[in-house]
Amino acid sequence: MLVDGFEQRLDVAGPDAPDTDLGPTQRPLRDFPEPPPVAEHGPARVVAMCNQKGGVGKTTTTINLGAALADYGRRVLLVDFDPQGALSVGLGIDAHDLELSIYNLVMERGIRVDDVLQETPVKGMDLLPSNIDLSAAEIQLVSEVAREQALSRALYPLLEAYDVVLVDCQPSLGMLTVNALTASDGVIVPLECEYFALRGVALLQETIEKVRDRLNPRLQIEGLLATMYDSRTVHGREVLARLVEAFGDKVFHTVIARTVRFPETTVAGLPITSFAPDSPGAAAYRQLAREVLARWPVARSRS
Ligand SMILES: Nc1ncnc2c1ncn2[C@@H]1O[C@H](COP(=O)(O)OP(=O)(O)OP(=O)(O)O)[C@@H](O)[C@H]1O
Ligand SMILES: [Mg+2]
Repeated sequence: MLVDGFEQRLDVAGPDAPDTDLGPTQRPLRDFPEPPPVAEHGPARVVAMCNQKGGVGKTTTTINLGAALADYGRRVLLVDFDPQGALSVGLGIDAHDLELSIYNLVMERGIRVDDVLQETPVKGMDLLPSNIDLSAAEIQLVSEVAREQALSRALYPLLEAYDVVLVDCQPSLGMLTVNALTASDGVIVPLECEYFALRGVALLQETIEKVRDRLNPRLQIEGLLATMYDSRTVHGREVLARLVEAFGDKVFHTVIARTVRFPETTVAGLPITSFAPDSPGAAAYRQLAREVLARWPVARSRS
């Protein structure tokens, strides 16, 4: 019963087509309005992609939501804030070969942002890449003055040039993630649709609240995104039902289904919206982009 109720409320974008592992789902795409074009750019809304649990779709969502927003004419900056550098690799950048990365921009003075910024294969979407150098920042920041604001300071001069900045966090709640939250207006929390998905969410919420109280009153939870959803299993549907029960409207209507196309895109170094634009996965992230834009306040001035 419960599950049936949620079946009606949640729309799985991109019902699985033959190119996926799954059978078809019955749900139609929900219509979020086509976002109006923007005549001017900036100031950017900064959004952290955050969950201390590993492998839940943070990086996949950063790349593909970013690309979908860029396809809707938004100027997008992606920030790889994970020393693993998966976001950079996922956009075809050889992380070992980087002369300068987000580490230098955040930790050193006098670095020119243009020397760190990289274009991506997606028009209108740039990247501040990272690599393993960033792992040193976690320790070095501890003894810095205003250590939680290091990323915020580095991003500030860039905000006028972009509409959206998406920060891909590492799977921990350490100093790098606190920096990402301090620099952000909103947080998107990707959650894998499996039984232990909700474990740790309370701790994440607590961290977000602490950052809001002490460092960044702008910060709000933008939404929870169910990822890797398998509509064939009762298990997957139950987890979704529990999510909505616990978080109500904070759960995005858009749900990202599990499909092998996502791992394939990483190998290709492209977002799914470029690699397989007609796939259900690409449609899902385009829908998420429309849903996110519909949720955002129209006036984005950073007063
Ligand atoms: N909807 C999906 N269906 C199938 N596989 C997916 C989906 N989303 C992501 N993946 C795959 O799952 C793995 C983990 O995803 P991703 O790297 O985006 O998670 P993450 O939260 O950034 O991980 P980490 O915490 O390690 O940074 C990757 O191999 C990715 O290709
Ligand atoms: Mg990641």
